[in-house]
Parts: sequence; C-alpha cells; structure tokens
Amino acid sequence: MTDAIKSNITAPWWKHGIIYQIYPRSFQDSNNDGIGDLPGITSRLDYLKWLGIDAIWLSPTFPSPMADFGYDVADYRDVHPMFGTLADFDTLLAEAHARGIKLLLDLVPNHTSSEHPWFKESRSSRANPKRNWYIWRDARADGSPPNNWVSAFGGSAWEWDETTGQYYLHSFLKEQPDLNYRNPDVIAAMQDVIRFWLERGLDGFRVDVIDWMIKDAEFRDEPDPYSRVYSAFQPEVQDVIRQFRKVFNEYPDRVMVGEINYLGTYEYIAGLYGQAVGEGGDLIHLPFNFRMILTPWSATDVRTMVDEYDRAIPEHGWPNYVLGNHDQHRVASRIGRDEARVAAILLLTLRGTPFIYYGEEIGMENVPISPEQVQDPYGINVPGMTRDPERTPMQWDSSVNAGFNAGAPTWLPVAANYGTVNVARQQNDSQSMLALYRRLIAYRRENPVMRVGRYQSITGVGIPTDCFVYLRALADRRVLVALNFTAEDRTFRLPEAGTIQLSTHLDRENETVQELRLRANEGVIVEL
Ligand code: GLC
Repeated sequence: MTDAIKSNITAPWWKHGIIYQIYPRSFQDSNNDGIGDLPGITSRLDYLKWLGIDAIWLSPTFPSPMADFGYDVADYRDVHPMFGTLADFDTLLAEAHARGIKLLLDLVPNHTSSEHPWFKESRSSRANPKRNWYIWRDARADGSPPNNWVSAFGGSAWEWDETTGQYYLHSFLKEQPDLNYRNPDVIAAMQDVIRFWLERGLDGFRVDVIDWMIKDAEFRDEPDPYSRVYSAFQPEVQDVIRQFRKVFNEYPDRVMVGEINYLGTYEYIAGLYGQAVGEGGDLIHLPFNFRMILTPWSATDVRTMVDEYDRAIPEHGWPNYVLGNHDQHRVASRIGRDEARVAAILLLTLRGTPFIYYGEEIGMENVPISPEQVQDPYGINVPGMTRDPERTPMQWDSSVNAGFNAGAPTWLPVAANYGTVNVARQQNDSQSMLALYRRLIAYRRENPVMRVGRYQSITGVGIPTDCFVYLRALADRRVLVALNFTAEDRTFRLPEAGTIQLSTHLDRENETVQELRLRANEGVIVEL
C-alpha cells in the first residue's frame, strides 16, 4: 500500500463521514409549542445512528429575534429558549458523542442581529467604542445611501439610522447589520466565540456566508448591483478566515465548513482551501460545492461538473457534494421523485463528503405555502422567493402532525403526503427511499474505496451519453457506478464484467453483468 493510500484510509472523520443537516425548527418538537427544539433532536439520535450518518449540523440555535429564523444572532454564547438551554445543548452533544455522532453548529459571523448588544452600543453614538465594529457611512450629498449596493433579500443594503445620522450596511435584512472585519477587535471577538464552543466539545462549525465578511475598502458602486464585485467576495477575506482557522487548529479533529459564493468558479472554490500546510490547507476544510444543486439534471452536465470539480480540488483539499439545504427547493421537487433516487446514489458514491438535508432520505418534497402562510422574510420581501417549502416539519410517522409534535399547530404546515411519506412507513418497506439511503450509507461505510478511492469518469466505449458511468478505485479494489438519467431503458456493455452490489430499485444483488441493462432512472453499483 502506498503512503498516499495509507494516509487516505486514516483520513480525518470529516473526509470519511457523512454530514446530516438539521433545521432545528422543523426536526422534532418535544414541548409541543409548534417549533422543534434541542431535546427533540436528542430524542431522535437513535434514528440518526440507525441511518448511519457520522455528524449532524444544526442551523442556528442561538438567542435571536428570529427575523431570519436564527441567522440573526443576538448572543453567540447561548441557546434560544425556544430551542432549550445550554444544558440541553450539553446533553445533545454528550448523547451524540455516545453514539459516535459528531456535532456542528452554524456560526453566523458576517452579521449579528440588530438586537445584539454590540450593535446596540454601536448605534448609540458615533463616539461609542463599538462604533467601528459595524459598517457606518455618511449619506451622499442628496441624502441617498452611500452607494448602490443591494441586500440579498431585496432593496438597498443601507439603512438610515436617525440617532447618529449615518447609514449602516446590511447585506441581508436591515435586522442583520454587517460586522466590520477590517477591525481586528471584531476578528478577536469572533475567535472567542469559536473557542467558547470548541472548548465545550463541539466538533466544528458550518460558517454562514463566510466569503461576504470583507467588502471593498473604498465602497465603490457595483457595475450592476447584483454583480457583487465590491459588496462581497473580496480576496482579503482569506486573511479573516485564516484567523478563524487558527482557532480550529488549537483543537484536534475540528472542522470548518464554509458557505461560499454559489456562483464561484472552480478556481475560486479551490482557492478557499488556502495554502498547503501539513495534510491540509490553512483556510476552509470544506468550502461548500453547490454545483449539484445548480447543474441541470442531465448525465452530460452532471459528469462535466463532477469531472471539472474533482480535478480542480487541490491535493491538500477535499471535495464535498450537496443536494439540498434550507435555502434550496427540495431535490425531489426540483428533479423528480425517481430522479431523486439516482441523485442519492450519485451523492453517496462520489469522492467527497456528502451532505444530506433532513428529510431527503425519505424523499420529502416542497410543501406548497400559500401567500398568507409565508414565514420567510425573503419570501415576504420578494414574492416567489420563499424558502418555507423546504423547511417544513420532518415526517416521522402517520400520527398527528407526522409525529413532529403532540398536535399543536406547527410553525409551517406539515406536508399533505405525510401519511405515506414518513420514516416509520419507509422503515418497513425494503424498497423505500429510506431503505436506499441506508443501504448506500452502509455500503460507503463498509468500503473505503467509496470514501477515499480515486474518481474517474468513463465515456465513449459504447456508453450512452445520457448515462453517467464512473469508477472508484483504491489499491486493488475497483467499483463502477452506472447511472441512467433517462426515463427509458438503456443497455450497454461494460468495459469488463462485474457483480451488481446495489441498485436504486433495491431488487438486484449479486448479479454478474457485462452487458448491463439499466431500467428507467436506475443506478447500480458494480464491483469489478
Ligand atoms: C445564508 C443562510 C441563509 C441566511 C443567510 C443570511 O445564506 O444559509 O439561510 O438567510 O445566509 O444569514
């Protein structure tokens, strides 16, 4: 075995593992107030253990006025009473660890809530020591905002503050003022926040809009307001991220996952791993790759995406793949139910850490939200943009409110299909989506080749262009994955004979094939 293979096999957990995202408001409501909470999550850990995932990431659970459902943090060192207490957090962490599950929280450093004491001080007077913790600018001569920057949630990114007669910057809601990371005190304060949680035993953070933290020093107008050439994604942000990373490195085995520009090039993503140091980079362990969400669902597009991305990741970096999250419509609704099974096998057989959004494993779909039901501020500001459909309560069983709680009205409606699409039912169905996810996860766990083996796509040699075929290889183990992206049968000859281990349809095993027939939207794993 070569050294490279050995070091891959002993790679840290976040390269081997599968990370499961929980939207805490919607996972399990233990006190029947209509909103999920930490004790609820703790009560479902046995399910997550059974499913086989390695880590969970919770969307924000900190005290917050909930203008953006927790992405507006009013205190970085506590738990919102709606979700529980710090003691509940400690219990969740201990119980997760007892089951071999790691825990990540969601750090939101770009902005605080306007209710955060730092901002209250900052806005109290121009002379306040925290004035420079946020981004304050004078109005233009005509009283209009300092420049043409726009908020990601609609409208100007500047809000006039009467008390001190200046505008402050908010890249998101006006209730989410941006911190000023050109001020070293702000970096130090956020480092302390990271340390606070890592010291408590937390395994890492997903870091919200990590590459927005630095804005153009001269506040130049955007060529087009949505181009974000100046209002975000400045190269100097790497200096801030490097300061964060130092804190992660003070503790063994911690991970920083970064939410980055969805539209960043592969070169841009690759740069966010930073410079090689030891076995990794000095910036983000896992800068999110959202390409699976953005790429049209065709074999050629997906293959090109994986090939280019896999090639772009530096030697000291590690890939990752995401099918969905709390900001994107459900994968089964985007591409179709049968297609979502193909997406599952794709996600779980590629080289790179897979992220599963809660409910994907049972094929949850977007829940229609009527205009009166809209909760998401983005959807209220910009009609049609609501993220509520992908944030609805987890569907556990066919009892009242899908087992999410004891019957109190839920903050978002429970999907109408919960009687058939739920965990309990799918646990008793050997061909369900849940059964597929669990088999795929187990196969990945049992076979190092699937976790750390090389990736190579196979084209030509008679493979139809609407099928995506690739190889994973580690030492003398070689596994081929063949995915039919069409709703018709496809038959082709494999370069060599092999044995089917698993099919998306969960009805083929130990079948020796060289001439491979794939049914509509069928994917298979074949050991060569
Ligand atoms: C990120 C989060 C999103 C949030 C925004 C502002 O994009 O994923 O949910 O609204 O940042 O914090």
